[in-house]
Amino acid sequence: MTKKYTFVANWKMYLNFDESIKYITDNMDALINLAQLPDTKIVIGPSFPMIYPMTHMLKSSKIEFSAQDCSTHANGAFTGQVSVKTLSEIGCKYCIIGHSEIRHYNNETDEIVAKKIDLLIDQKISPIICIGENESQKKDGHTFSVLEEQIKNVLELVKIECNKLNGLPIFIAYEPLWSIGSGTIPEKDHLETVFAWLHGQVQKNSASTHWNLLYGGSLSEENIAAFKKIDYLSGFLIGKSSTNFQEFEKIVKKIYYS
Ligand code: PGA
Repeated sequence: MTKKYTFVANWKMYLNFDESIKYITDNMDALINLAQLPDTKIVIGPSFPMIYPMTHMLKSSKIEFSAQDCSTHANGAFTGQVSVKTLSEIGCKYCIIGHSEIRHYNNETDEIVAKKIDLLIDQKISPIICIGENESQKKDGHTFSVLEEQIKNVLELVKIECNKLNGLPIFIAYEPLWSIGSGTIPEKDHLETVFAWLHGQVQKNSASTHWNLLYGGSLSEENIAAFKKIDYLSGFLIGKSSTNFQEFEKIVKKIYYS
């Protein structure tokens, strides 16, 4: 494997506290070994309360941590929210934003996503920005206009802030809504066109930025190998399959050894 791949385990709210800790204790050595594979980055994204204990349990490993969301405010009277500063203090190096579930359930807009990116960059946390069209948008041939709208602010912001980045990687995860949790993955042609287009967009706007393009949606050990053939794709955002360590390990190894 010559290309570098990042595997982000998006645990969503699947595992409770005890199950998350058990996942780590039961698989500690294998996890540490997985993160030592050359050109392989393993990022775990548990719910907020598990991040701090897990960073301690794995502090001498190469495993890194992601939050699943953050506040749009730096601090203050925002009941229920978690600041980017706190995420940085507890050891988060990444934060997922704009996930379709948050866009849907918390009404997250592209403007909110942009505000979060700004705060994350200030704290040197890499944003993992999720974009993707829904089923009817795909059927109507609107995939690219939807993606264009979703990344417009992101590209502008990263261009303006490029001096602040100092090599901080910025991630864009293409996650078609019709694929998340459905067991259906896009056709190879569709993926090739989307990732070539995304690559063109990010390069056109800020070629010096360390961009990483991820795919997410129904990834499994059965279908992961096909993704290795997609140009410009350098990692994966893995939901359900990542909550079972054996399955997650097989996914990582299939990419590494194929
Ligand atoms: P899934 O979720 O792998 O369970 O489809 C991916 C995601 O929503 O990030």
